[in-house]
This record gives sequence, C-alpha cells and structure tokens, in this order.
Amino acid sequence: MSENKFFVIAVDGGAASGKSTTSRALAERLNLLHVDTGTHYRALTLLFLNLRGKQTGDNSIADFLGKIELETSLSGRAALLKINGRVPADGELRSPEVNAMVSHLAAMPKLRELLKSYQRSLPEIARQNGFAGLVMEGRDIGTVIFPNADLKFFLQADVKTRVKRRADEGLQDSIAKRDKIDSSRKTAPLACAEDAEIIDNSDLTPEEVVDRICAFIENGAGS
Ligand code: DC
Repeated sequence: MSENKFFVIAVDGGAASGKSTTSRALAERLNLLHVDTGTHYRALTLLFLNLRGKQTGDNSIADFLGKIELETSLSGRAALLKINGRVPADGELRSPEVNAMVSHLAAMPKLRELLKSYQRSLPEIARQNGFAGLVMEGRDIGTVIFPNADLKFFLQADVKTRVKRRADEGLQDSIAKRDKIDSSRKTAPLACAEDAEIIDNSDLTPEEVVDRICAFIENGAGS
C-alpha cells in the first residue's frame, strides 16, 4: 500500500464471521472510516416493520423506498446511517424481528440499488473528514459495491463458533438460515470475490486476524 494513497478495504463474509470486530479494529489501527452495511439493511427493515402496521393506500416497495432519505452521521471512526433524520439504536437494529426479516428485504433489487448508490458515496465522506481510507463490511462489497477495492478479505468461521458468538452476545439469530437466503438470492448474493484473501478465524483471536491483515498489507498487497 503506497504512502498517502486513499484506499478502500472490502470485508465480506457470512453472519457472525467476525466482520464487525475485524473492521472496527482495522479502522482504529489504520485511521479508516468504518462502514457496516449490515446496519443499512437492518435500518431499512426496521423502518419497513414500523410502517407496515400504520400504512394506508399504496403499500408497494417502490412507494416505501420513495419516502426514504439517507444521510450519514459520524461517530468516532464509524459512519452511521441516518434514515429519515434518525440514527436507529443498535438494540432496535438487532431485534429478533429484524433478524428474521432482514434477509428477505435484502433480496429486493430496488432496495439494493438504493443502498448501492448510498454506499458508493461514502469514500468521499471519508476523504472529506481526513480518514486515510475506508473499510466497508458486508456480503457484496468486494463483488458489487467496490469491485476495484484496493484490498478484499473474506472471513469464515465454522458454524459452531459462529452460533456461540451470537449466543455470547445474547442475540437470537438463525445465522445458517440467513446465510442460505443471502447466498442464494439473484441480486448481489453473499459471495467471495475471486481476488479476495480468505481468512478462517475459527481458531484465531480478533487481534490475530487484524495482525494477519496488517501483515498482508505490509507485504505489499493492494499497492
Ligand atoms: O452483517 P449483518 O448480519 O448485520 O447483515 C444483516 C443482513 O443484511 C444479512 O443477513 C444480509 C443483509 N446484507 C446484505 O444483503 N448485503 C450486505 N452488504 C450486508 C448485509
């Protein structure tokens, strides 16, 4: 990675594969803006669930998406999605109701189009705010959102480890079911980019994962 070059890192993987822990730590070490795109799909799902009970008239997804305004709020090194003027709380975004619905909404092409153009606008915000680069995590970052990212990582862990991680966080989440829906949808499925570095972190600590990625960068990857 050459000095002073703004760079984009894509981190993809299934549910509970360690993307957020890794991306947050990378953002700290390398002065990057961190974007968790899972929260974008969760925020839209939460709004959809909240509006569903109240709606009268046109209930189409196009009508729903047409009423949405997306902005960004910075909190430390994290870029948080502000939706219709509000940043939803993390607890709301990770409720069992949102967990059960999010993969279904995330399979909708129109919804993904809306988020794609928003997500592609974020490197500019990182530049304007003095970050050295951007680390964005999700399912399709290295394949669809930033196919020309400077570095791509695909994280994996065995199912037992991933289920334990969610249980330790006190969260109710059918990760295998979500992965199945996410990887079998037609538009931008969960997939490993051909040029991504695969890291299985089942037996690694978060620090070891970040060390491995930094060593990879120091050894000239992405330059
Ligand atoms: O990373 P997460 O578990 O918070 O993501 C929640 C859901 O959002 C995931 O099951 C599928 C969807 N998602 C997606 O389709 N594409 C992304 N880039 C990120 C998340």
